Amino acid sequence: MKITVVGTGYVGLVTGTCFAETGNDVTCVDIDVKKVEKLSSGQVTIYEPGLEKLFERNLKEGRLHFTTNLEEGISEAAVIFLALPTPPGEDGSADLSYILKVADQLGHLLKDYKIIVDKSTVPVGTADKVHAAIAKNATVDFDVVSNPEFLREGVAVEDFMKPDRVVIGTSSERARKIMADLYAPFVRQGNPVIFMDEKSAELTKYAANSFLATKISFMNEIAILCERLGADVDMVRRGIGSDDRIGKRFLFPGIGYGGSCFPKDVQALVKSSQTVDYDFRILNAVMDVNEAQKVFLLPKIESYFENNLQGKHFALWGLAFKPNTDDIREAPALYIIDRLLAAGATVSAFDPEAMPNVKQLLGDRIHFAEHQYDALDNADALIIATEWSVFRTPDFEKIRTNLKDQVIFDGRNLFESPRMQELGFHYESVGRQA
Ligand code: UGA
Repeated sequence: MKITVVGTGYVGLVTGTCFAETGNDVTCVDIDVKKVEKLSSGQVTIYEPGLEKLFERNLKEGRLHFTTNLEEGISEAAVIFLALPTPPGEDGSADLSYILKVADQLGHLLKDYKIIVDKSTVPVGTADKVHAAIAKNATVDFDVVSNPEFLREGVAVEDFMKPDRVVIGTSSERARKIMADLYAPFVRQGNPVIFMDEKSAELTKYAANSFLATKISFMNEIAILCERLGADVDMVRRGIGSDDRIGKRFLFPGIGYGGSCFPKDVQALVKSSQTVDYDFRILNAVMDVNEAQKVFLLPKIESYFENNLQGKHFALWGLAFKPNTDDIREAPALYIIDRLLAAGATVSAFDPEAMPNVKQLLGDRIHFAEHQYDALDNADALIIATEWSVFRTPDFEKIRTNLKDQVIFDGRNLFESPRMQELGFHYESVGRQA
């Protein structure tokens, strides 16, 4: 099938590459000339494990093309995916201007029947708006489908190639058949393609992310209770997670969720609710808890250093909002850094992928270490903000020799507290007894 993907950001590039991998002929369109040049010459513009290999293969075999010209890019396509940004506007609601602008252009350009698919996370009712924007100028038949993506950064290729489910919102029989054919290779193991109306598909995406964020904030509050009541959150997590109705996944407490999705989507759903006169009380609490959780380690650090961080030096492991990505949007590490610097401390950080992005943001306000152990030199304590695998089984002897004081504040519960005590560390984590 011939497919066009408009927008070569994170979602667009993964979508385009994975559809090419199943034999489709994919053209990706982007207004960014430099990006299109880079991609055409074989340079992958985002960091995502596994993507480069698929990208190179499909580019070489001629199934992936890049252009800045929308008219040329869509001319032969049966399906056009819109994978455009929907940043939060000033009031937190999703800004649809990128999508609607392209929809407007498409109306002029369509010469035969095509399916236009909303792949971006968009508020309920957007498919109708996109339909109206195209219809204003269109002279041919077309359908607008909502097909939200559920990719996780860091495992996006795997998520796309083997989705738990595919959600397709359409009221058109013609579009339904084509979309079913397109996704058939991805659900061969029997995972469902769930067809529904457009609005339900749009809401499904927000409901999924908001529910997951709720699970995290709930566990973060349980972790606080565990500390105060003398319980252990690892035990409670295992105790409740074995109930199938709750499920084992996404129950890990920590220093809050970050990234480009959960914070934005929870906020957007709260805003959407307000537009229909509803106050989504649970989600307001989810956001509040998460804001506080990002700096959850601070009181522990302050208390250990008797409320005086002036002149203290901290090693920080992990800057990305989660492992296997260089994404630092809403990363808890940045909030911790802010607080430490404001209190007169200095920071030496290490992250396997995210240091260039933080450097761009913070310049030389913090020091960037070449190696995880170099960050520890002369530090009064180590703070762990992201659970990269390389931090999970460190050389504790090296940590001991490099750190000035044997103190670790772990926001991701990487180690067992008793073991850390045995090794002679002052070790504080989330929801466990020190
Ligand atoms: C999330 C969803 O998981 C995807 O299904 C969705 O497609 C995506 O948003 C999106 O809307 O595009 P992502 O933001 O890449 O994916 O990251 P997750 O792996 O879901 O992690 C989100 C945050 O939750 C991270 O900050 C992580 O540290 C935190 N988290 C996750 C916890 O604190 N505890 C957990 O148990 C799990």
